[in-house]
Amino acid sequence: MRSACRIVREILSLLKEEVKPGVSTLVLDHLAEKQARKMGARPAFKGYSGYPYSVCCSINEQVVHGMPGDRVLLEGDIVSLDYGVVYDGYFGDAAVTLPVGRISESAEKLIRVTSESLDLGIDQACPGNRLSDISHAVQKHAEGQGFSVVREFVGHGIGKSLHESPQVPNFGLPGKGIKLKPGMVLAIEPMINQLGPEVRILGDGWTAVTLDGGLSAHFEHTVAITENGPDILTSVC
Ligand code: MF3
Ligand code: CO
Repeated sequence: MRSACRIVREILSLLKEEVKPGVSTLVLDHLAEKQARKMGARPAFKGYSGYPYSVCCSINEQVVHGMPGDRVLLEGDIVSLDYGVVYDGYFGDAAVTLPVGRISESAEKLIRVTSESLDLGIDQACPGNRLSDISHAVQKHAEGQGFSVVREFVGHGIGKSLHESPQVPNFGLPGKGIKLKPGMVLAIEPMINQLGPEVRILGDGWTAVTLDGGLSAHFEHTVAITENGPDILTSVC
């Protein structure tokens, strides 16, 4: 899993370099697929439940599962890149939300708070804690900063499959759910909205957008629980 996650991290770093005004999301997708194969891995999303691309590129009010296409990134957009690979039978999964050129202060705050919410959730991924301690930490920070938490999509266990149990919601009371143990690996992935939490799915059957058109940000890491606490396998992306 460490190897799979290192590949995810390196390719996300490459994609990050390419995010600028004028670049189409399809270009990012091609790069992500080509690089995975070059590194002996396979894109994890392509073909998953019929999803046709290697990356999810979700722009502005798009929450998750935005499909790459001819749309070009514009100055002031924010774009979430969600990417996973399978390497030697094991999966890695991560996401980041990036600014395209100069963005508004409110968009900057949304990105910062979503990233902080993920970090605070990860801090709870320790042996002896319970699953919802992660969920609660994410929700508390996001809502405390005036944002809302998407309910319809959640994090997940990950390993020999992309999605394993348990589900990892980004909201809830602390102290509930399974007890966390060394050896478990979770993909923790808050999706945080600027305005209301409601989402709807576009006619393409994949793209989730905010119901009210407000911005949305998404960060994700694959995290191993160890005796010494969380080990962020996809760190630096
Ligand atoms: N990171 C997302 C997830 O964990 C990506 C899934 S996109 C899909 O669910 F296309 F593969 F479904
Ligand atoms: Co995921």
